[in-house]
Amino acid sequence: MSESLASVSYIGATILFILSLGGLSNPESSRRGNLYGMIGMAIAVLATILGPRVTIAALPWIIASMAVGGSIGIFAARKVQMTQMPELVALMHSLVGLAAMLVGFANYIDPAAAANLTSAEKAIHELEIYIGILIGAVTFSGSIIAFGKLSGKIGGKPLLLPARHWLNLLGLLVVIYAGGLFLHTETVAAGMTFLFVMTVISLLFGIHMVMAIGGADMPVVVSMLNSYSGWAAAATGFMLSNDLLIVTGALVGSSGAILSYIMCRAMNRHFVSVIAGGFGTSGGTVVASSDGQPAGEVVPVNAAETAELLRDAKNVIIVPGYGMAVAQAQHTVYEITKLLRAKGVNVRFGIHPVAGRMPGHMNVLLAEAKVPYDIVFEMDELNEDFPDTDVAMIIGANDIVNPAAQDDPNSPIAGMPVLEVWKAKTSIVMKRSMASGYAGVDNPLFYKENNRMLFGDAKKMLDEVLAVLRT
Ligand code: TAP
Repeated sequence: MSESLASVSYIGATILFILSLGGLSNPESSRRGNLYGMIGMAIAVLATILGPRVTIAALPWIIASMAVGGSIGIFAARKVQMTQMPELVALMHSLVGLAAMLVGFANYIDPAAAANLTSAEKAIHELEIYIGILIGAVTFSGSIIAFGKLSGKIGGKPLLLPARHWLNLLGLLVVIYAGGLFLHTETVAAGMTFLFVMTVISLLFGIHMVMAIGGADMPVVVSMLNSYSGWAAAATGFMLSNDLLIVTGALVGSSGAILSYIMCRAMNRHFVSVIAGGFGTSGGTVVASSDGQPAGEVVPVNAAETAELLRDAKNVIIVPGYGMAVAQAQHTVYEITKLLRAKGVNVRFGIHPVAGRMPGHMNVLLAEAKVPYDIVFEMDELNEDFPDTDVAMIIGANDIVNPAAQDDPNSPIAGMPVLEVWKAKTSIVMKRSMASGYAGVDNPLFYKENNRMLFGDAKKMLDEVLAVLRT
């Protein structure tokens, strides 16, 4: 394939990636968005492999690597449960970081990469390598820790070392100093020493940064690492002088940054304070809630009583959360919805921006169960309607319906916008126990007079409710 045909293919792939991002911004067009992304990626891979820069001798190696990587990818994607998606995504980000690191080192020791460069061009090339490895290393180790936290292999509580900001600052200064020395080295061996020093510090920084972030701030970490993986890919594009990789990396990097900003707004947090770490802590100690255990009794109900409340209702709002994903209750939820709608009940879904464990988690589950998009609303579109709602049915959600976010200024989640389910005539919370949610804070909603608790696995309980409704 000629250079110009490869360039035209790259432009085509870039346009498809932009269309893909546009499509993914709305559940209704997201399938189309995914398709554009897949076609764009196929064109990009083919144009690169068949392009002028790849020799025939390299082809078997490339095809063999793609076969191994692709098989692992297919196996992982088929095996992963919906609830494990966030940690799979974190693991994938770590691979992008690792690739950027390896490409950086390979590029530095490849004598052909810097041949025919003027001294100014060589300096720019080495700066690209240095920055590329730095971003790659932070992304790699940070994503591994995020994977550990999201999968529960590492505790969710933030690890706050004494003088942690000073440690980070010291690391940054050493990295800048080593970078200055690196750019002035004459031999590859000397340069490698500085690259290694910087890589070790960057890896430690990635670990330290994500270890210090915890609780309900983790969504921002996931999207932030997504953004970093994009910048790592863009840096790799600069190293390899590959325009498509630069553009694609920048698209991922900037969309991840915008998503992080949206998440921060959804949780009423400042980006800088999230990065600084220490969610829900005061003076370095994790606090549960301002006034300890909320006092009061809860009112348990059974499936038949729940069905009765739903049957008598005119307006119902269903609020799904992480527990619905765990229980895989979305199909039963939709069966109940269809039945109630057939009886003339106005049933709508209220989706919190950080419900579940990844952006759009609930939308994906509801789309899988074929819930029509026109009855699925975002938090802001529905929050005013709760006072006119007969039943708010909360399925495996906790933090996103916690009134302490509004009422208790000392709560770790104070200020986070929440779905005001307690304003409905009756709220029914479905969960297995009185355990707290991801942020680890108590929920006074459970003790409200108009609240009922339906204890049990969400799928099992909803099956029972459905059976009663069908009689
Ligand atoms: P959570 O606050 O985590 O609450 C989920 C509840 O589901 C738990 O209290 C649990 O109680 C219940 N549950 C678990 N398995 C269940 C099952 N099989 N059947 C019934 N209930 C079950 O979830 P949420 O309200 O969706 O809030 C999301 C939280 O995750 C927020 O704090 C958010 O910041 C954080 N987070 C979000 C993301 C993104 S991007 N969305 C990423 C990382 C973290 P029991 O154990 O008593 O059943």
